[in-house]
Amino acid sequence: AIPVITIDGPTASGKGTVAQRVATALHFHYLDSGALYRLTALSALSHKVSLDDEAALVEVASRLKPTFQADDVFLNGDNVSLAIRAEEVGNAASKIAALPAVRQALVELQLRFREAPGLLADGRDMGTVIFPNACLKVFLTASAEARAERRYKQLIGKGFSANMHDLLKDLNERDARDANRAVAPLKPAEGAYLLDTSNLTVDQAVEQVLGWYAA
Ligand code: CDP
Repeated sequence: AIPVITIDGPTASGKGTVAQRVATALHFHYLDSGALYRLTALSALSHKVSLDDEAALVEVASRLKPTFQADDVFLNGDNVSLAIRAEEVGNAASKIAALPAVRQALVELQLRFREAPGLLADGRDMGTVIFPNACLKVFLTASAEARAERRYKQLIGKGFSANMHDLLKDLNERDARDANRAVAPLKPAEGAYLLDTSNLTVDQAVEQVLGWYAA
């Protein structure tokens, strides 16, 4: 079987960076499942679909045909890599991700990322729902402060404006939504290794995951 490593964890935990680095080191494909929720949200926002209209959102999600090229993602020919990173889109993504039918509409698309020689899947429910048979599952966390700081640097680095107070508030709201939703709530998968990165460098976190995989 094609090996899958899952890395799940809360918002701005540094998962994305660690996951991409592990994928590169192993020459694995990389699934940023959060990007699929963000793409659905962006598409809904741009078509003025209400974030409460579950049926219409399912339509949007099931029609989604993103193409990933190196670090960029395209939707109908437009490079939307930056647009999906806006905080507004992240918040909308977090809301629609609580809708079971929207999650269901994205399952197929996610499973298709499993290709030789292997897949690194990054998200909230990769180990619990999408790839429960993964050979290595990691649950990556960091303190709320460390996460708000990381998100701040990330947004400023992309030219967005941000402030710590609002970010901490967003973060806590998103954590609560992710953890308390009825379907695929955020929690460590059975057998997952816990990795708290509050006091780790990216290199150290990557080394730890590679070490678990090699063991
Ligand atoms: O903004 P953040 O880094 O937290 O999120 P992301 O990984 O880009 O994902 C955006 C939103 O999609 C998250 O806030 C989650 O609510 C949701 N999501 C999910 O429900 N399940 C996944 N496998 C990935 C993301």
